[in-house]
Amino acid sequence: MTTLLALETSCDESAAAIVRQTDLGIEVLAHGISSQVEEHAQWGGVVPEIASRRHVEALPFLVEQALASSGLSMDALDAVASTVAPGLVGALMVGSITARTLAALHGLPFLGIHHLEAHLASAALGEAPPEPPYLVLLVSGGHTELIRVDLEGRMHRLGRSHDDAAGEAFDKVARLLGLSYPGGPAIQALAVAGDSSSFQLPKGRVSKPGGGYYPYDFSFSGLKTAMLRQVEACRADGAEPPWADLAASFEQVVADVLVERSLRCCRDQGLHRLVMVGGVAANRRLRALMADRGQALGVSVQIAPLAYCTDNAAMVGAAALQRLQRSTAASRLGLGVAARWPLEDADALMASPPPF
Ligand code: KG4
Ligand code: ZN
Repeated sequence: MTTLLALETSCDESAAAIVRQTDLGIEVLAHGISSQVEEHAQWGGVVPEIASRRHVEALPFLVEQALASSGLSMDALDAVASTVAPGLVGALMVGSITARTLAALHGLPFLGIHHLEAHLASAALGEAPPEPPYLVLLVSGGHTELIRVDLEGRMHRLGRSHDDAAGEAFDKVARLLGLSYPGGPAIQALAVAGDSSSFQLPKGRVSKPGGGYYPYDFSFSGLKTAMLRQVEACRADGAEPPWADLAASFEQVVADVLVERSLRCCRDQGLHRLVMVGGVAANRRLRALMADRGQALGVSVQIAPLAYCTDNAAMVGAAALQRLQRSTAASRLGLGVAARWPLEDADALMASPPPF
């Protein structure tokens, strides 16, 4: 049994978790999150400097709490992990320095984890991890990607957004509708009372230079503009825009696009398993639509548990446990942090000398 402490501080959530690998799968012994959302909401988005300061304040308590509620001491742990890329550099630095200091003090291995690898691993927190090969739809505030996972965890990106990520589109459209940050939960709440067929909105297909479309790619910037035009048109008529109908129509078209392109990719690739992870995977309409359409097409759909869709430390721990199952390699204590780093190169985070 391997047990480790994991930290997450890549953006605006400070989080600590203690996770354990057992014969039955990954068990979350403790996990806590301190969200800064309300403080950033007044600025309409995340302010990096404020994020770093709040992580410094919150992390020691979260670590203490995680140890106390799991009933474990640092000596009972086998490793310490933290997110090291991609994300806000100052924010990442807080988690990484805390984790490396604890690892050095207690003579434990340190694992620097890629944030997207952590989101991918969140699917293993609910049920047994899916058997490769499978397709992952990763939909968060920073990424919208379709990734094929083959045997031994090899990954190939098959689709991506050419402009905004789906979560970013939720956040920007929420602002347009007068809602607070983060936009996803706010739009979801407003959309409940709306009619999703009220507005015809564009599905953002991405043209190929020589003609035709990239079948698995996404574009959300035209949708954002179309929403702005609808609001302006209503106002020009002197009417109050039907906010709930606008929210429901927007949520529906985003869900439709994500589901259609993911399942088409599964069909073309001959894949029968689809995993959905990331903050936007918390969306109720999207979860229901993906499950229904997947079932109709014979694709088994596994969605990360609601509690582990948005940023958290249990998923960082899950990714670290999966790495320790494959190899004993850990990161060097000299490993730094990086604002950007490709998921395909995540193995380099365990390399010596470290890549950054
Ligand atoms: O994964 P995450 O916590 O952070 C990133 O790594 O980006 O994702 C945050 C994003 C935000 O854009 C937020 O608006 C969106 O996930 N989100 C949602 C929902 N909950 C969070 N989008 C749609 N519906 C939701 N229920
Ligand atoms: Zn994330």
